[in-house]
Amino acid sequence: MAEQTDVGLIGLAVMGSNLALNIAEKGYRIAVYDREVEVTDAFVANSGTLSSQIFSASDLKSLVAMIKRPRSIILLIKAGSPVDQVIETLAPLLEEGDTIVDGGNTEFNDTVRRSNKLKEKGIHFVGLGLSGGEEGARDGPSLMFGGSEHSWQQIGPLLQEVAVKYNDQPCCAYMGPDGAGNFVKTIHNGIEYADMQMIAEIYGIMKDGFGRGAKEMAPVFTRWNEGELSSYLIEITAKVLSVDDDETSAPLVDVILDKAGQKGTGRWAVIEAQKLGVGATTIEAAVAARSLSADREGRLKTAECFEFDFNEARTQLSNTVSDEDLEQALLLGKIAAYAQGFSILEAARAEHQWPLPMKEIAEVWRAGCIIRSVFLSRIASVYATERAETNLLTAAYFADLINNGHQALRKVVSHAVLCGIPVPALASALSYIDGAAQAKSTANLIQAQRDCFGAHTYKRLDKEGSYHTSWLK
Ligand code: 6PG
Repeated sequence: MAEQTDVGLIGLAVMGSNLALNIAEKGYRIAVYDREVEVTDAFVANSGTLSSQIFSASDLKSLVAMIKRPRSIILLIKAGSPVDQVIETLAPLLEEGDTIVDGGNTEFNDTVRRSNKLKEKGIHFVGLGLSGGEEGARDGPSLMFGGSEHSWQQIGPLLQEVAVKYNDQPCCAYMGPDGAGNFVKTIHNGIEYADMQMIAEIYGIMKDGFGRGAKEMAPVFTRWNEGELSSYLIEITAKVLSVDDDETSAPLVDVILDKAGQKGTGRWAVIEAQKLGVGATTIEAAVAARSLSADREGRLKTAECFEFDFNEARTQLSNTVSDEDLEQALLLGKIAAYAQGFSILEAARAEHQWPLPMKEIAEVWRAGCIIRSVFLSRIASVYATERAETNLLTAAYFADLINNGHQALRKVVSHAVLCGIPVPALASALSYIDGAAQAKSTANLIQAQRDCFGAHTYKRLDKEGSYHTSWLK
């Protein structure tokens, strides 16, 4: 029985068990371990016809002994200190050339640290960005690989087989060493937050502005899912809006508490954008909106302080703003959010000297993951001909969409503002586009202020050099 399996997997919660079944289904023999023996036993017992491919281990030592050398062991456990704890026990059992793959939503700096530490022992550490939730893990996730070339050679072929396929092409690609895969997944999540927030803002306009019920909105999203906005998130929005609550028979969405959760990955995307000096205003607005939503008690108190009256404006709204305007606005907001996400990736590519292949990133996101969409094929097409440094706003395809749709975005944002309907992500998308296209910005005044109070100096438009003025003399 020794050394009989191709790969090992630790952690048999929903993601781990689904991925293990996916791996076994592709014909690989897999050794599995969970710290709860009953969980491992139940998993193997319920794995049906795949059970002949699955070998359970009662401890890490026997798990390691079951795997062919050089070993590949996938961790699907809670991100953070549990990963460090498992590594601490596992590493002494491993040998030079073995690879540990962390498939959790890990902060990329943790992967860099773990990777450097394990390198001293000749053990390779991979931060694998994995998207698609439990369904993706079972049927084919989108995978973003960050690790050594050695590990990519070793486990890349297996990962490409288990990944979802788009036109027969696996949605799994090499992003670069150590933290590159986790970084790409973090930006995926930042974009995921922005996409979701903008959809929620459009829902807010339909609900509070047009006075529509969930059932009336669902077909609109279904229709949009057949056009340029076609995506998993639009598709599930239509479905979610159609579901009724068993207890009250009201639309289920109407009885859900309006406080958004977040595990931190969207926030990490914003932090990285800030560190890299990239303006990612739509992603920032989406993360901030989740935080604001979470403070429901504060919102209820604040609402009592104001006497804003939007009745008149809201009555007019459906005569002014059409569903087509909303569709256009959402599309343009999406362009801004993705332009920001790819700009963060581009800055990280330069900063960390990672390959981060833009076309392949767009391609691995086309299927399996939460942000999968027709839109990502458009981005992949842009990067097939344009340089990685290209801001997506300026790519001909997207520039045309912006030229055609900017009036609709302006109309939607301005009327939402007049109606007191918060649209922070859409508004910031509009300002991002306008700011990016502002040939002459207002930063000359900021430079003057900086020089006035701090002698920071300024440059002039008409000649070279740095200048300082005694402004208050
Ligand atoms: C995915 C998702 C997933 C993410 C959740 C939760 O690609 O499958 O991005 O990995 O962690 O969507 O995120 P929040 O709890 O922060 O919303």
